[in-house]
Amino acid sequence: MPHEQKKARPTLRWVGGVEGHLRLIDQTLLPLEVTEIDCFDVETVFEAIRSLRVRGAPAIGIAAAYGVVIGAQMAAEAKLDAFIVAVNNTADRLAESRPTAVNLFWALERMRRVAENVSCGVQEALALLLSEAQAIHEEDQAMCRAIGRYGQELLRDGQGVLTHCNAGGLATSDYGTALAVFFAAQEAGKTLHIYADETRPLLQGARLTTWELQERGIDVTLICDSMAAQVMREGRVQAVVTGADRIAANGDTANKIGTYGVALLAAAHEIPFYVAAPTSTFDLSLENGSQIPIEERAATEITHGFGRQTAPTGVKAYNPAFDVTPAHLIQGIICERGVIEPVTAENIAALVAPVGS
Ligand code: MRU
Repeated sequence: MPHEQKKARPTLRWVGGVEGHLRLIDQTLLPLEVTEIDCFDVETVFEAIRSLRVRGAPAIGIAAAYGVVIGAQMAAEAKLDAFIVAVNNTADRLAESRPTAVNLFWALERMRRVAENVSCGVQEALALLLSEAQAIHEEDQAMCRAIGRYGQELLRDGQGVLTHCNAGGLATSDYGTALAVFFAAQEAGKTLHIYADETRPLLQGARLTTWELQERGIDVTLICDSMAAQVMREGRVQAVVTGADRIAANGDTANKIGTYGVALLAAAHEIPFYVAAPTSTFDLSLENGSQIPIEERAATEITHGFGRQTAPTGVKAYNPAFDVTPAHLIQGIICERGVIEPVTAENIAALVAPVGS
């Protein structure tokens, strides 16, 4: 019997109508505290994205779209020209919050397009912006469900599956990408044994993925990142599924730092490595992964993780937040329109390009 799923608190939501605001779970406090914060101004949204209170590529895009509505509210009394300038300024500001996940720029672009094409009064334009943000939010829910349906077909009952970082409901509107595959497998009556890498340095795997899987009654075992090779050698893992932050036209995929290493290990152990991501995560303007901007975060995330100093004062530390897994290491990319396999530029173009994204 499929496990009955608990109704989780939404990762983020819009509260009220055109004069409403954004409410989101502060993910920096998980798993010990489930606390929501209210965003009434653009800087609070900006700070929430930058400091990973809301994180994960699709969730960042949705939060930013609502952030544009909040910026537009501030210009609700202005003339239409000034209103459009305010929307664009807000989008410019939010675009500076994080550089790697393309969903952020994709969502901001959709919001800009709405503002630039309005030929009505400011109040109606504001309502149109809110509907666009809500459409981005709802489409994400549908995309995640579809990813789950396609992805679960690739896994068999009883398998061990490794995942890295958090590509679950917390990283999207409600169901996730990589974790959607596990949730859908569970709904199809399959029992999977998930190995969650803790995901240094910010521990999204330990803090968020294990929490989400536990909440949904899925068997999960936490391992340190450095244990993946041994766990694979012991034959505990039959597949790897991760999310993505940006996928270039040739299939090279940026995801949380450490993903590339997991893909190499999977190849060495002949374990299929899958990426699960919606079409909004593809950036067909980039030929390959070398062009994907990689966020570098503060060294203190390594030297003073969670407020405790763990390295000598003054030591140099390098902290790239993402890496790029080359397409040839990826068995398939699971998106809401199907599974791209083998991962080639032609197959990606055929599935992703037609709808224009
Ligand atoms: O730095 P984060 O926590 O935003 O990084 C998130 C990831 O790398 C996720 O795996 C990715 O965004 C996919 S989310 C469905």
